[in-house]
Amino acid sequence: MKSQDVRKQFLDFFASKGHLIVPSAPIVLKDDPTLMFNNSGMAQFKEYFLGNGTPKSTRIADTQKCLRVSGKHNDLEDVGFDTYHHTMFEMLGNWSFGDYFKKEAITWAWELLTEVYKIPKENLYVSVFEGNPEENVPFDREAWDIWKGLIDEDRIILGNKKDNFWEMGDQGPCGPCSEIHVDIRSAEEKALVSGKSLVNNDHPQVVEIWNNVFMEFNRKADGSLEKLPAKHVDTGMGFERLCMALQGKTSNYDTDVFTPLIEKVEQITGLKYTLNEVLNNSEEQNKTNIAIRVVVDHVRAVAFAIADGQLPSNTGAGYVIRRILRRAIRYGFTFLNTKEPFINQLVAVLAKQMGEFFPEIKSQEQLVTNVIREEEASFLRTLDQGLQLLDKVIEEEKAFPSEGLGRISGTKAFELYDTFGFPIDLTALILKEKGLELDEAGFNTAMQAQKNRSRAASELSTEDWSVLIPGNVETFVGYDQSESDVKITRIRKIDSKKDGILYQIVLDNTPFYPEGGGQVGDKGTLVSANETIEIIDTKKENNLILHFTKQLPENINAGFVAKVNQDLRSLSSRNHSATHLMHQALRSILGTHVEQKGSLVNPNYLRFDFSHFAKMTETELQQVEDFVNARIQEQLQLVERRNIPFAQAVQEGAMALFGEKYGDEVRAIKFGESMELCGGIHVKNTAEIWHFKIVSEGAVAAGIRRIEAITSEAVKAHFASYENTLNEVKTALKNPQDILKAVHSMQEENAKLTKQIEALVKDKVKNLKASLIAEIQEINGVQFLAKQVDLNAEGAKDLAYELGNLGNNVFLVLATAEEEKPMLTCYVSKELVAEKNLNAGQVVRELGKFIQGGGGGQPFFATAGGKNVAGIQQALENAIEFVK
Ligand code: SER
Repeated sequence: MKSQDVRKQFLDFFASKGHLIVPSAPIVLKDDPTLMFNNSGMAQFKEYFLGNGTPKSTRIADTQKCLRVSGKHNDLEDVGFDTYHHTMFEMLGNWSFGDYFKKEAITWAWELLTEVYKIPKENLYVSVFEGNPEENVPFDREAWDIWKGLIDEDRIILGNKKDNFWEMGDQGPCGPCSEIHVDIRSAEEKALVSGKSLVNNDHPQVVEIWNNVFMEFNRKADGSLEKLPAKHVDTGMGFERLCMALQGKTSNYDTDVFTPLIEKVEQITGLKYTLNEVLNNSEEQNKTNIAIRVVVDHVRAVAFAIADGQLPSNTGAGYVIRRILRRAIRYGFTFLNTKEPFINQLVAVLAKQMGEFFPEIKSQEQLVTNVIREEEASFLRTLDQGLQLLDKVIEEEKAFPSEGLGRISGTKAFELYDTFGFPIDLTALILKEKGLELDEAGFNTAMQAQKNRSRAASELSTEDWSVLIPGNVETFVGYDQSESDVKITRIRKIDSKKDGILYQIVLDNTPFYPEGGGQVGDKGTLVSANETIEIIDTKKENNLILHFTKQLPENINAGFVAKVNQDLRSLSSRNHSATHLMHQALRSILGTHVEQKGSLVNPNYLRFDFSHFAKMTETELQQVEDFVNARIQEQLQLVERRNIPFAQAVQEGAMALFGEKYGDEVRAIKFGESMELCGGIHVKNTAEIWHFKIVSEGAVAAGIRRIEAITSEAVKAHFASYENTLNEVKTALKNPQDILKAVHSMQEENAKLTKQIEALVKDKVKNLKASLIAEIQEINGVQFLAKQVDLNAEGAKDLAYELGNLGNNVFLVLATAEEEKPMLTCYVSKELVAEKNLNAGQVVRELGKFIQGGGGGQPFFATAGGKNVAGIQQALENAIEFVK
C-alpha cells in the first residue's frame, strides 16, 4: 500500500465514524510559550482539554506535522543511527473532546489496524497502564477489559508511568495511555525470542505504532495532578512506522516516504544506500547509510519549517532549524564527501512527493530551495574556515604544547565550536586523523558553563494560576474600545531571570491587544478606586490574553477600568495599516511572487520581510513609497469585516499567509484594493498615517528581503533631524547661498592643497636625506641611524626608503610626532634581515613600548603608533641595542 493511500484510509475511516477532518496545524507554534514546535497531534487542541475553549466538533481527526527536537520530547541526536526515529514525522490522530472514551477509541483502533489495514493480529501487542499509587492513579482496568474482548490476554502488557502515562510537557493535560506495538520480525526470529519480551525495549522491529491517551488530568506547576473538567481521547499513530509495517519493510527509510529522497542523494553523491535487510555492511557503508538517513530525515524538518514561515536564524525556533540543517550538512561533508550545497536539491523531490497533501511545500518550493542552498553555502564556508583555523591550532599546539604533547585543549575546541560554529565531532575526527587527542572533558566543562550561563539568563519559572472567577471565557473588546470595566479572573506569578518577578493577569474582558500578527502588545493601566496598575505588555498564550505587570494589585477582587495607552497604540496602528499598503505596493510593483515572510509593527517603525530574489532598485523603492503615499492621500476608509467564512474571504481576494493558523471564521481588513486576513489594530482612515517613508532595504536570507519604514510622527522627526543637520552644515560653511556649490568648491580646494602638501613633503624628504646621510653611523658593520624627523607618516616612509636604498646593510629607526601622535618607522635592509636576524616588526613592537603603543609589519619595514610623545627620545636611544 502506497503511503499516500495509508494516510487517506486513516482519514476516511475516522470520517466514517463521524469525525471532522482538519488540516495539519503549522509546525511552528506562535501562541504557546511552553512549546516551540508542534510535537504531537494534540498540541493544537491543548486548550480544549483544559476547558479554555470549544472545538469545532467533539470528534476530530487529522495528520499533523510534528517536530521532536526540543524540550521534553527530543529525538534529534538519535536520528540517523536507528531506522525508526525522525525529527519531523507525521502523526495520524483522532480526538474526542468530552465525547467518546476508551471503548470506542480502542475498538476503532483495532478495527482500523486489523480489518482495514489488515495487519495480522499475531503481530500486535498492546499495553495498559499499571497504575501509580503514589499519585493515586489506579490500574487501568477498563482498558484491560476492553482489550481482553479483542485480543489474546497474553498479548496485553502492563506498563509503568514512563511508558503508559502520557504528558505533553512539564505542565498540561495528561493521562494514562494504551499503546499498540507491532512485531515485524521474520518468522525465524519470532520463533527464537518472543515479541512480548521486546516491547518497549528499543527493538527496531518491535515498535510502538499507535498511542491512545485517555486524558483525564492536568499536571500543575507544583507537580500535582488535578482532574480535568471532562474526559477526552487523544490518539497518535506514527505514519512512517505504520507505512513500514504495511509495506513489509523493516526500516522507515525503506518505505516510499523516504526512498525517492534517498535515490536523489545516491544520484548526487554517486554513493549507494543499502536496504536494512542487508547485513554485514562494511564500516564505511554503515557510515554512508547513517549520513544518508540524517540528510533525508533532516531535509523534511527544515523544508516544512521554512514553508511554515520559520527561517533559519540565530535565536529561538530559527536556531533549532539552523542546527538541524547544519547537522545534515556536516554528515554530508564528513561522510558523503559533499563539499558543495546539495541538500536543497531534495526539496523538489519532497514537493513532488508530498505537495498534493501539503500544498505549502509545493507552492513555496523555489523559496525553500533558495533558503536551504544559501544556508548550506554559508555553513560550508564556515567549515572551510574552521578547518584552516583548526590547522593553525594544531600547528601552534605542536610548536608550543600547552596541554602536553598530542593533545588539544578543550577550551580551544570550544572556541572553534562557539565562535565559528565548527562542530566538535568534526574537530575530534580531524584530530584523530592527525594522531592528536581532544581534551573532551575540558570541552564538556566549557560547554556546560556556557549552557548554565544561557539557562540562567532565560529561565522562567511559572507558578500555577490562582483562579478568581472560574469558567470565564475572556472576551476581547479592543477593536471597538480602548477602555473597559473589567474584573481579574486569574493571576499568576512568574519569575523570569531576565525581568525579575512579574505577574500575569487575565481579565473577564479586555481592550488590550495581545502581541500578534507582528504588532506588539498594548501597554496601559488598570485603574481601581484605590490604585493604578501599570500594564507593561500584553501577550497571548493559547486562548488566554495575559496582561504583564510588575505590581501585584492590592485588591485583586476590585473592579478596574482597563485603559489602553492610546498614543502608543495609535502609532502602532498607523505602522500596521501602512504595512498592508506596502504589501500591496510590493505585489503590484515587483510581482505577485512577493509574500509576507515576517513582520514587526511597533510605535516607532515597521519591519517587513518578504520573498523577492533581487535587491530593490532606487526606482522601485521610490515607486513603493509613492504608491503607499498615494493611498494615504486618497483617504481610504477602513472596511473591517469580522467573522466572515475563511473560504469567502479568500475568494474575495484576501491574502492568507503560510504558517498562520486561521479559524473557519476570519477577520478581513480592507483599504481600497488592499485586503488581508488580519487580527491587528488599524487606523480608521489611511489619512491618519500622514506619510510613509522607507528607511532601509536589505537581505535577510536567500530570496528574502527586508524593508524598514516609518510613518506619521516618526517621519516628522526623521525630516526634522535632516533639516537640523543641514542647518548645522550651513552655519559651519558660513551660510552660503548654495550649500552644494560651497561643498564642491571646498572639495576642489582640498584636492589642490593635498597635492601641494605632497610636493612640499617630497622636497623636504630630499633635503632631509642630504643632511641625514652625514649622521649615519657605522656600528658592527651596520649603517645605523635613529632620529626624530619633522614629517608626516607618508614622508617618514619615503625618507626611510630613500635612505635605505643607499646600501645593503642599513638599519633605521625614524620617529615622527605629527599632531602630537608619536610614531616609529623602522627599515632593515633585506640582507640584514637574513644575516643578522634583525626584524623590523619585532623592533617596532619592542621600541613601541616607550611610546605606549604597538604595531607591526614586515621583517624589513614596520611601523608603530603610540600615545606618549615624551617616550620618543627613549625609544630612539634604545634602538642602538639592536645593532650592538
Ligand atoms: N499525545 C500522544 C502522543 O503524542 C498521542 O497523540 O503520543
